[in-house]
Amino acid sequence: MSVLFEPYRIGCMEIRNRFVRSATTSYWSDPQGVVRPEIIMLYRGLAEGGIGLIVKGHLYVSDSGKAHTGMAGLSSDLHIPKLRELTDAVHEHGKKIVAQLNHAGYTSRVDRTGPSEYKTERWMARALAADEIHGIVDAFGEAARRAMDAGFDGVQIHGAHGYLVSQFLSSLANSRTDEYGGSLENRMRLLNEVYDEIRARVGGCTPVLLKMNCDDFSPEGFTINDSVRVTEAICRRGLDAIEISGGGLGHQEALRTRARSEDPDLSEANFAGHAVKIRAATKPTPLALVNGIRSRGCMEAIIEKDVADLVSMSRPFIREPDLVRLLKAGQPEAKCISCGDCISGEVFGKMMLRCHVE
Ligand SMILES: Cc1cc2nc3c(=O)[nH]c(=O)nc-3n(C[C@H](O)[C@H](O)[C@H](O)COP(=O)(O)O)c2cc1C
Repeated sequence: MSVLFEPYRIGCMEIRNRFVRSATTSYWSDPQGVVRPEIIMLYRGLAEGGIGLIVKGHLYVSDSGKAHTGMAGLSSDLHIPKLRELTDAVHEHGKKIVAQLNHAGYTSRVDRTGPSEYKTERWMARALAADEIHGIVDAFGEAARRAMDAGFDGVQIHGAHGYLVSQFLSSLANSRTDEYGGSLENRMRLLNEVYDEIRARVGGCTPVLLKMNCDDFSPEGFTINDSVRVTEAICRRGLDAIEISGGGLGHQEALRTRARSEDPDLSEANFAGHAVKIRAATKPTPLALVNGIRSRGCMEAIIEKDVADLVSMSRPFIREPDLVRLLKAGQPEAKCISCGDCISGEVFGKMMLRCHVE
């Protein structure tokens, strides 16, 4: 049997195989951030399709941290009942699901705030006061508690993609002069406090994961060297698993090539080169790798060459929710062509998530 279909353990959580569905917002929750029936059906289909571990699309921890229309929330107990239906649907098929917790920071639709004042041509954000930061840390903890009440098997902190946690980590975004800015140790303080708060609420056995940038791909911001130091430190603190992603504030497409591996077997996995460096610093903490992975050959190489323990994908599961079953039956690769139409402005927040390629 291929290594891809072998079970794996993250902390106290046993998963059936090495596949992770990376967090993917359906941008279709109601205006209060409550998930609609179509979203529950989507998760049922993913669980039926064989994915060992599903990461629910990001959930805002406080109303001021909502990133976009149709985003689901965990900022209030009113979000719990429908999320409980969603986790029940996944558990009926013997699969695991964790809640991705997020605060949008500068990119919030409600209140643009972040580590420091920040201006672009289109908007301006203000700096958070220290007591507001403490409130956000508490909101992450409360959201984690609600995630447990809603039946999730664990939580994932969203520390990637230019949202609040990654804004604090980036020297491009964070020019604070207090204990949350300056050195990397200080820029990591928000992440550490969020992790500690969540751990205190969920206990020692519940898996706490982190989605982390290996690189913001900005000429001046957060780099692979920073990422190695941050991931090493948070793993020592007790984190249960890391998912490696990339791209944040100041992202320049041309800089993405620096994360690639020269190994031809890993050429699809866009961040495999950087992942090897993070692996060396964080082993034995379980590692998942996301972005661009499409063929069974690459998936097996990731695990057999010890780049990561888990293969994570987003868009392929939009096109083929039963991809794991299909791969097991011999299909050599995902049909997803990475066109990005599923997340284009034409559809985002206007209809339920789906693949638009015929
Ligand atoms: C429609 C859509 C929604 C997404 N929503 C999230 C999200 O909620 N949280 C997150 O961390 N990443 C999100 N992502 C990014 C994916 O998790 C993933 O990192 C990215 O698509 C690259 O993986 P892929 O090449 O397998 O698609 C989203 C991507 C898409 C296409």
